[in-house]
Amino acid sequence: TYVIAQPCVDVKDRACIDECPVDCIYEGERSLYIHPDECVDCGACEPVCPVEAIYYEDDVPDEWSDYYQVNVDFFAELGSPGGAAKTGVLPYDHPLVAALPPQGD
Ligand code: F3S
Ligand code: F3S
Repeated sequence: TYVIAQPCVDVKDRACIDECPVDCIYEGERSLYIHPDECVDCGACEPVCPVEAIYYEDDVPDEWSDYYQVNVDFFAELGSPGGAAKTGVLPYDHPLVAALPPQGD
C-alpha cells in the first residue's frame, strides 16, 4: 500500500484525491489517509503531492516510519467503506496526528 505521512498534516492539498482510480484516499480533520486494503498500488497519487507526503510503504522515510501504522489504524473502526466519496470529511484524526502541534506556517 501507499502511505500518507506527516507533510500532509494541516496542508491537505487534496491533489492526490483526483488521481486515485479507486477513491481510497480518505479525509480526516487535519490529514488524509490511504486505505491499506482498498489501495491498488497504482502509484498515481505519489507524484502529484506538492509537499511529498505520499510514499510506497517500503520507502517511507525513517522520521515518518510510524505513518504506515497511522494509515492502517485510522480505518480500525471505519472498516472498508469502499470509497471516500461515501464518507466525506471524517471528524477525527489518528491520535498521533491529532497530538501534533500546528504544522506549516
Ligand atoms: Fe495531503 Fe498531498 Fe494529498 S498534502 S491531501 S497527500 S496531495
Ligand atoms: Fe490510489 Fe494512490 Fe493507491 S492513487 S490506488 S492511493 S497508490
